[in-house]
Amino acid sequence: MEPRSISFVEFPSCHSLVGIVLVLCFAHVSSTTNETDKLSLLAFKAGITENPLSVLSLWNNSMGFCQWYGRELQLGNNSLNHEIPPQISQLSRLQILWLENNSLVGEIPKNIAACFNLVSLTLAFNQLFGKIPTQVGSLSNLQLFYLHVNNLIGSVPSSLGNLSSLERLVFSLNNLGGSIPPTLGHLSKLQLFMVAQNKLSGPILTEVLNLSSLSDFDVGVNHIQGSLPAYICFTLPNLHVNYLGGTILSSLGNLTKLAALNLSGNNFQDQIPSELSNYFFLNKLDLSRNNLNGTIPPQIMSKSSQIILMDLSHNRLIGALPMEVGNLRFLTALSISKNMLGGEIPNSLGDCVALVSLMMGGNSFHRSIPQSMRSLRGIEELDLSHNNFSREIPQFLETFRSLKVLNLSYNNFKGMLPCEGVFENATSTPIIGNAKLCGGLLEFQLPKCISSNSKSRKVNVLRLSTVVICGLLGIAFVLAILYLSWRKRQVQEPAFSSMVVLCPNISYGMLLKATNGFSSTNMVGVGSFGSVYKGILEDNRTTVAMKVLHLVGRGALKSFVVGCEVLKNIRHRNLLKILTVCSSVDYERNDFKAIVYDFMDNGSLE
Ligand SMILES: *[C@@H]1O[C@H](CO)[C@@H](O)[C@H](O)[C@H]1NC(C)=O
Ligand SMILES: *[C@@H]1O[C@H](CO)[C@@H](O)[C@H](O)[C@H]1NC(C)=O
Ligand SMILES: *[C@@H]1O[C@H](CO)[C@@H](O)[C@H](O)[C@H]1NC(C)=O
Ligand SMILES: *[C@@H]1O[C@H](CO)[C@@H](O)[C@H](O)[C@H]1NC(C)=O
Ligand SMILES: *[C@@H]1O[C@H](CO)[C@@H](O)[C@H](O)[C@H]1NC(C)=O
Ligand SMILES: *[C@@H]1O[C@H](CO)[C@@H](O)[C@H](O)[C@H]1NC(C)=O
Ligand SMILES: *[C@@H]1O[C@H](CO)[C@@H](O)[C@H](O)[C@H]1NC(C)=O
Ligand SMILES: *[C@@H]1O[C@H](CO)[C@@H](O)[C@H](O)[C@H]1NC(C)=O
Ligand SMILES: *[C@@H]1O[C@H](CO)[C@@H](O)[C@H](O)[C@H]1NC(C)=O
Ligand SMILES: *[C@@H]1O[C@H](CO)[C@@H](O)[C@H](O)[C@H]1NC(C)=O
Ligand SMILES: *[C@@H]1O[C@H](CO)[C@@H](O)[C@H](O)[C@H]1NC(C)=O
Ligand SMILES: *[C@@H]1O[C@H](CO)[C@@H](O)[C@H](O)[C@H]1NC(C)=O
Repeated sequence: MEPRSISFVEFPSCHSLVGIVLVLCFAHVSSTTNETDKLSLLAFKAGITENPLSVLSLWNNSMGFCQWYGRELQLGNNSLNHEIPPQISQLSRLQILWLENNSLVGEIPKNIAACFNLVSLTLAFNQLFGKIPTQVGSLSNLQLFYLHVNNLIGSVPSSLGNLSSLERLVFSLNNLGGSIPPTLGHLSKLQLFMVAQNKLSGPILTEVLNLSSLSDFDVGVNHIQGSLPAYICFTLPNLHVNYLGGTILSSLGNLTKLAALNLSGNNFQDQIPSELSNYFFLNKLDLSRNNLNGTIPPQIMSKSSQIILMDLSHNRLIGALPMEVGNLRFLTALSISKNMLGGEIPNSLGDCVALVSLMMGGNSFHRSIPQSMRSLRGIEELDLSHNNFSREIPQFLETFRSLKVLNLSYNNFKGMLPCEGVFENATSTPIIGNAKLCGGLLEFQLPKCISSNSKSRKVNVLRLSTVVICGLLGIAFVLAILYLSWRKRQVQEPAFSSMVVLCPNISYGMLLKATNGFSSTNMVGVGSFGSVYKGILEDNRTTVAMKVLHLVGRGALKSFVVGCEVLKNIRHRNLLKILTVCSSVDYERNDFKAIVYDFMDNGSLE
């Protein structure tokens, strides 16, 4: 627990022995020792009879090494194992009292209230028992109050509502009972409120939730009940499930600065309140493992959302994934697994380009994985298991280099399983429960794809080994060169020294302009593997013909095959000169490949 707001001054000379930090110094060194404070400290020391590590043995009446000005007393991380001496009350100018992580026993002295200048008080990680004295309510300057990990009983004193400066209150891991006093609703500066793992009961009143500065709120593992609104927020990930029940009311109070809301593992019912969208700063929302029903409110996916993590898994949510999900530009992790969601994946999901983990398993999503998801290149984990997807597995998934787990099991995917990328490892790509899949690497043990129609003929081409394809390419290449040199001798065509003359870069944009956006009036033919356009390059007014290859949805291997066919076609009589090959990405981030030729007015490119 880092007390952030408190700064203190340490003088190296004031550090005590053997790694024990005994900061007993002054913000400003005073020439006059305050006798009263000194005597109080000595009394404090006298009160701690057991002092195994001898921290205090140097601390005597002579006080020669370090003068006491009385603002800070830091004796944390020692082995002090006595009670806190009542003389503490005489340290009236004390502002910081840190005695955490000792073995202090006994009760918190009531007269600690006399240290009315205290700003920061931590007695955490000790063995204190008894009740929290109501008198602490008069420490009106207190900003930080930590009592976590002790054996305190009784209730949270309602007098704490007087601590109008309080910013951080942590009482977790004690045996505190009763209910949270509504007076805490007066703590207008409270940012941190953690009382997890006690025996608190009763409802949490709206007053407490009306704290506009609150950013962390943890009441996990208590006996809090009722149907009033309740929140558990988290920054401490190791605090565990709490047993709240009831509904999340839409009157979510004024916790607008909430950065994280974790209501996981409770019994929340009803719908997700759309008012969650008022939490402008919310970046983590975990509502998993409840009984939430209804649809996902699109409001929680608004354009202004800063959400990074959203976990709605293990509920009873119905309906579709709202298309507003595309607004969540910062979203890195989305889980909606184990719900009753359905319909198609919205195309807008492709806009969540920050996604690293997408868990959609255990729903009824159907049809296909949308092509728009090809933009989710950073994704590492994609779980689509136990849905009803029935189309082909899109080839772009094999180009996702960061994809580590792709769970497609228990769907109705059909067609050919790709072979590259994540599909090279059967462990990381479970496909069990998809009866209509074929192909893939041997370890998947799928049947061969049937080559009766043109689709699976292409599939078979794909399954040819690289060696064969390269062989074909080689032959084609040699034939092309032979043909061209033969032609060169025949036609005596000058200035054609190499087959591919690479012109200065011709970009996708230039070709787009040259063909009026690949308009149909510029199209001069369509072939099995590409369309041919006529166009005029803007910069040098050259008339060109270009063969634009159909590549959408095909992998690298496919374009390789197409490349072979293209090279074979070069033997065509009317093809003169390849000006350049444009290999680029179009404005929708699809691979774009075109071969640009010199245009022959009288010839047909096909
Ligand atoms: C010492 O402290 C007491 C009580 O806090 C105060 O009355 C007194 O003026 C202080 N003396 C000096 C020298 O600061
Ligand atoms: C006080 O502590 C100093 C430093 O350890 C020591 O030299 C001195 O004898 C002690 N005085 C008394 C009265 O204990
Ligand atoms: C005690 O130890 C903890 C953890 O090592 C550290 O954060 C804290 O600042 C220490 N307290 C003091 C008073 O030195
Ligand atoms: C408590 O102090 C010990 C050393 O005395 C340290 O190792 C430990 O980390 C501290 N624990 C906390 C919670 O500060
Ligand atoms: C603190 O608040 C209580 C009510 O919760 C009030 O009765 C009491 O007078 C207050 N004490 C101080 C010291 O302000
Ligand atoms: C909520 O806080 C505002 C001031 O921040 C106050 O005026 C209002 O009375 C409080 N409401 C409740 C229910 O405590
Ligand atoms: C929310 O709390 C649960 C239970 O304490 C925990 O398992 C889970 O990791 C937390 N969620 C996040 C996002 O930290
Ligand atoms: C939230 O605060 C506003 C004023 O800032 C107040 O009008 C409103 O009642 C508060 N909402 C709740 C639920 O307390
Ligand atoms: C959601 O659950 C609540 C309580 O279990 C029920 O009253 C309500 O009808 C349910 N709503 C829907 C849309 O199923
Ligand atoms: C899955 O989709 C098929 C049609 O593609 C449909 O007949 C079937 O009912 C669906 N199953 C589920 C559980 O939604
Ligand atoms: C894939 O999903 C199934 C069903 O949800 C699950 O049993 C399996 O553990 C998952 N495998 C991986 C590697 O995530
Ligand atoms: C396959 O993936 C698993 C984890 O998903 C990994 O342990 C294993 O080493 C991978 N195998 C190969 C051959 O890359």
